[in-house]
Amino acid sequence: MHYKTSSRAPGMKFDPFKALAVPRPIGWIGTLSRDGVPNLAPYSFFNAVSDRPPMVMFSSVGRKDSLRNIEDNGEFTCSIANWDLHEQMNLSSAPVVHGVDEFALAGLTPAASICVKPPWVAQAPAAFECKVWKTIALPAPMGADGAPGEGCTMVIGEVLAIYIDERFIADGIVQTGAMRPLARLGYMDYAVISPESLFTLNRPTASADGRSATVLPGAWDGVYR
Ligand SMILES: Cc1cc2nc3c(=O)[nH]c(=O)nc-3n(C[C@H](O)[C@H](O)[C@H](O)COP(=O)(O)O)c2cc1C
Repeated sequence: MHYKTSSRAPGMKFDPFKALAVPRPIGWIGTLSRDGVPNLAPYSFFNAVSDRPPMVMFSSVGRKDSLRNIEDNGEFTCSIANWDLHEQMNLSSAPVVHGVDEFALAGLTPAASICVKPPWVAQAPAAFECKVWKTIALPAPMGADGAPGEGCTMVIGEVLAIYIDERFIADGIVQTGAMRPLARLGYMDYAVISPESLFTLNRPTASADGRSATVLPGAWDGVYR
C-alpha cells in the first residue's frame, strides 16, 4: 500500500500513522493550575529534541489542561512511565474536568521539584523538570465544513533538573532496561523496554579517505558521534 495522507488509507480500519511512528516514549506531564492544583497526563507525542541544553517537547491534540496550565505559568515536569505504573499512567489520562488532581485520582504521590513549581511522580524511575522555551501552534486540519479544525500545539521545554531513582544507576550508568519504561505504539498497543530487549551498537567511524566505514568492537568510548 502507498497512499497520500490527503485521503483515507484504503482498506484500513483506522489511520495507521501512529502504528508506524513507533515506539514513542511517554512523557507523563505534570503541571500546576492557577489555583495551585496539580495536573498529570500522559503524552506520547513526546521526545527529546536537544541534549545541550537538554530539551524535550510534547504535543497537545487540541487544548487540554496541561497546555492551559503551561500557558499560565510556563513550567512542567515530565515523569517516565514504566511497567509498574502502567495502570496509574492510563488512569491519569481520563478526561476529567479542569481542577481535578490526577496524581490523587491515580493514587500517585507528588514529589517536590527543585527548579520548578509543578511536582513529578514520586514512584517514577526518573523525571525531568522543565521550563517552557516555546509553544508552537501546528497547522490545523480542515474540518468537514471546510473550516480549520482544532490542531496540535507543540510545547518545547528546557530540562532544568533531572531526577533518577538510585536503584536504576549502576557503575555510573543508567539501567534503562531495569526501569522497564513504556513505549506507546498504535491503536491501544504498548511495548515495554526490558533488559532482554536491549542491544548495543557502536557508531561507525569513517576511514581516513572518507570512503569506507568500520564499526569497532568492544566497549563504547563515551563519545556520541
Ligand atoms: C499513553 C497515552 C499517550 C497519550 N498521548 C497524547 C498526546 O501525545 N497528545 C494528546 O493530546 N493526548 C494524549 N493522550 C491523551 C491525554 O492523556 C488525555 O487527553 C488527558 O485527559 C489529557 O489531560 P490534561 O487535559 O490534564 O492535559 C495520551 C493518552 C495516553 C494513555
